[in-house]
Amino acid sequence: MSSMFLKVFDWVNHRLPIVNTFERHLSKHPVPKKVNFWYLFGALASVVLIIQIVSGIWLMMPYENTEEGAFASVEFIMRDVDYGWVIRYMHTTGASMFFAVVYLHMFRGLLYGSYQRPRELVWIFGMTIYLVMMAEGFLGYVLPYGQMSYWGAQVIISLFGAIPYIGESLEVWVRGDYYISGATISRFFALHVVALPLILIALVFMHLVALHEVGAGNPEGIDIEKHVDEDGVPLDSVPFFPYKVLNALVGIGVFMIVFSIIMFFFPEMGGYFLEKANFEEANPLSTPEHIAPVWYYSPYYAMLRAVPDKLGGLIVMAGAIAILFVVPWLDRSKVASIRYKGIFSKIALVLFATSFITLGYLGTVPVTESRKLMSVIGTVIYFGFFFLMPFYTSLEKTSVPPERL
Ligand code: HEM
Repeated sequence: MSSMFLKVFDWVNHRLPIVNTFERHLSKHPVPKKVNFWYLFGALASVVLIIQIVSGIWLMMPYENTEEGAFASVEFIMRDVDYGWVIRYMHTTGASMFFAVVYLHMFRGLLYGSYQRPRELVWIFGMTIYLVMMAEGFLGYVLPYGQMSYWGAQVIISLFGAIPYIGESLEVWVRGDYYISGATISRFFALHVVALPLILIALVFMHLVALHEVGAGNPEGIDIEKHVDEDGVPLDSVPFFPYKVLNALVGIGVFMIVFSIIMFFFPEMGGYFLEKANFEEANPLSTPEHIAPVWYYSPYYAMLRAVPDKLGGLIVMAGAIAILFVVPWLDRSKVASIRYKGIFSKIALVLFATSFITLGYLGTVPVTESRKLMSVIGTVIYFGFFFLMPFYTSLEKTSVPPERL
């Protein structure tokens, strides 16, 4: 039987490069021998992507994408479907954890200059993934058709209306109606469960193909391809299997424990993962007292509110994301890693992270005069980090990284 299986496998392998691809991109793929905690989040993001796809498929079965049925079908999932609540909380916890690990993954990029040559395209694919994830999260949030789904969608879709000339028509086109209705739910459902996941999977694939072409980076920010053995394999690398696989499995185990604790004991996370208002069905006649997006959008929401004019706010918000795309060309430093960059880069990164987290907090609470001022300061620091980057990275004194890992 086993020799029969081997013969069939051999036959297929001669026609489809299974073993070759597996060895080249997985088992024998050389990876830097010394990386740290920050290099785990790519693997964790891949795990959460799988969790979201699997739990999403199961959620899709009892969910009803109509104005009358959406909210009730989610209640049905929570109360009557066997383990429906586990599947739903897996998906809602997964959404927040996806952003948490991706934010840490992106921050690693800023810490160690992972976006620098030759990994610019890896970064661009990453940023496109982030953009699609934001759209995916928003569309999914509307589907349960709770109060915050409705009013959140109202705020976001009305932003399109601020675009000159085409704004109003664009708003109607996005909603599929003159107000948020079954037509909106139905198109958001199609995009959330089919179109965007397909795009996301394709982008993650390209992200990894591009990464494998140039090789993974390391916390020293040095090029390990400079020292290779007679077969061209970097001396400071180890094969992906078993070293990195076992290493990642420990991290994945710890992550899954944290994930499960949240999912089983704190699925709402005090309103940060699941907002209280969304346990009430959408009511177009009653605006919730305080409309706030989920935490992963809140820094941008704070920026939007920091600008008095709607179109101006939209431009600032879009600019805040767009500027991240060009970071590889803003950083003019001779070194990649923060370990060897100068004092200005270090201060700038701390200020940037502080402003982003502060904006995140400000975006979740009701606006007051002092909070508005803080949002303006936070927004200025956020943009300052990027606009001044070409200057402080090229003018500051850097230290010399080691030759080898
Ligand atoms: C679904 C989301 C994502 C998945 C599944 C993913 C997956 C991965 C994996 C598995 C790696 C290699 C391991 C590691 O370095 O952690 C990686 C590397 C990388 N990712 Fe992502 N990623 C995602 C999103 C992003 C985003 C949003 C960005 C930034 C905008 C980004 C930027 C990078 C960069 C620059 C590297 C290369 C790091 C280096 O080798 O030094 N990724 N990604």
